Amino acid sequence: MSDYGFEDTTYKAVGGYDGLVKLVDDFYEAMDTLPEAKRIRDMHPSDLEVTKDKLVYFLSGWMGGPRIYPEKYGRGLSLPMAHQHLKITAEDAKAWLTCMKAALDKHDFPDDFKAYLLEQLAFPANRIHQVSQMKHGHAD
Ligand code: HEM
Repeated sequence: MSDYGFEDTTYKAVGGYDGLVKLVDDFYEAMDTLPEAKRIRDMHPSDLEVTKDKLVYFLSGWMGGPRIYPEKYGRGLSLPMAHQHLKITAEDAKAWLTCMKAALDKHDFPDDFKAYLLEQLAFPANRIHQVSQMKHGHAD
């Protein structure tokens, strides 16, 4: 197993800032097209420019690269807090990860890197789902 969690190895493996911009573009393109992602696409504003930028800036630091989100957006971000206004089910968390898988599959990344990243992203995705359940009292 490669040591992608070490320092900025994940950030470098994704291709740095430019790689992240491409990945996030493909991620939202998948969300725009995959039928199982329609519900989560509809939670977003129709113009995705700012959301895309925020995800790029957030993932930069999350992947061990430059912590540029607070610099640009004024303060750090708690993922559960940033999503607490949304009712996010387990299916929604799964759909989010499916979009990310589709985006990763469009690129020439090593398979172990794709598997590592999806495994790591499942943690915040599940946490966001759990906090939404507690907040909104839904069972799914
Ligand atoms: C669990 C499934 C998820 C769903 C359904 C979801 C949905 C959304 C939606 C609808 C927005 C836009 C909110 C708005 O404009 O009001 C958003 C923003 C955002 N999401 Fe997610 N998201 C999920 C998981 C994740 C994960 C796993 C990450 C990061 C690893 C993430 C990172 C972000 C970031 C950084 C923003 C911008 C927040 C801000 O700056 O206010 N999301 N998400």
